[in-house]
Amino acid sequence: VNSPLPQPRLGDRSLFPSLEAHAYLAHAAISPASLAVRRAVTELANDYERRGVRAFPTWNDQRAQLRTRLGQLINAHAEDIALTAGTTRGISDLALCFPWRRGDRIVCFRGEFPANVTPWQRAAELFGLDVVWLDAIRYVRDTEEGLHELDQTLKGGGVRLVAVSAVQFQTGLFMPLRQIGELCRTRGAALAVDAIQACGAVPVDVQAWQADYVTCGAHKWLMGLEGCGFLWVHPERVAELQPHTAGWLSHEAGADFLSKGRGLLKYDRPLKKSAAVFEGSTSSAIGYAALAASLELLQTIGVPAIFAHLQAYLDGLEHALVERGFKSLRSATAEGRSGSLCTEAPTGTSVTALHASLMQQGIVTSMPDGYLRFAPHWPNCLDEVPMVLEAIDTALAARS
Ligand SMILES: Cc1ncc(COP(=O)(O)O)c(C=O)c1O
Repeated sequence: VNSPLPQPRLGDRSLFPSLEAHAYLAHAAISPASLAVRRAVTELANDYERRGVRAFPTWNDQRAQLRTRLGQLINAHAEDIALTAGTTRGISDLALCFPWRRGDRIVCFRGEFPANVTPWQRAAELFGLDVVWLDAIRYVRDTEEGLHELDQTLKGGGVRLVAVSAVQFQTGLFMPLRQIGELCRTRGAALAVDAIQACGAVPVDVQAWQADYVTCGAHKWLMGLEGCGFLWVHPERVAELQPHTAGWLSHEAGADFLSKGRGLLKYDRPLKKSAAVFEGSTSSAIGYAALAASLELLQTIGVPAIFAHLQAYLDGLEHALVERGFKSLRSATAEGRSGSLCTEAPTGTSVTALHASLMQQGIVTSMPDGYLRFAPHWPNCLDEVPMVLEAIDTALAARS
């Protein structure tokens, strides 16, 4: 019988007893697994070990609960959410199934993580579309300037879709999605948001953003495992998607031939008219069990409380880093902030050497595109900050 696990509490690592790092600050890259995640994975494997196919309904039912939890996380209905094999898979499905017309334009941002670019480029090639490039960094310098440029582009006509990450992986900037959504609505473009750098750390509200599509993966701020995620489709958008990526489970009653007797094996069953059309095959049972477990922890604490905790942690760190010659890319205002503090290393300092030295000292950070990124999460204790700074001082001293 499993003993009860510790309750999740802000600043408490009890659910991560084997984590080696003294300070783990790479949640924007890959999160460590909690005891709850490990237990869920073991339970699933044990169940399939004992029962094989008979275990399937149990975990299939659990996935229904997972969709409900994800709906609560992003302010959406469970039936508009498809579980996917990760962010890229969700974006690729959208890019291939969007009702494109030759010559349509897609707005992409330079500085985005390639997961939110490559599928749009492939769609452009396949369907004869134009990719229009804007600069995400403009929003770091001046939100209004960025929005103005976007509006001018939309006014130019022909833009069918704007693809943007809620939080930029390079700078940690939370994009002004309410305003971007408003512009898209006014100018008749769809809004597709990659939310992997936001969900779990920043309150997410797909209604407030007026988004049409949102994709996400489990292994960063949701603290699940790699290889799974979800896609939310606005219910009014689902009918127009062309189900080019449908699979055997995309059909209505598509699995009946496996449990309801002879004569049900058909290839012309209608395709589902909901986000479930994107769940076309058997999928990562382990990944979803892990995600359900980590999400329960997150939602026990609550994302607004997590966001506040992260800001308190990063406030202390940012100030001290700037004093040491780092340049912070963190937004000056709360609306532009996320769980990541991205910095440029002081002049004359090699960021790779700094990152390696910190790693050696047990401070795990990440280094997207040469920025040093500090990304704590709910288990990080505010008391860690002096230790992180001490390690930075040691690393900086080693330069000379
Ligand atoms: C903005 C963004 N999108 C997507 C990904 C990854 O996508 P996937 O879940 O497909 O691996 C990352 C990081 O790995 C990211 O930072």
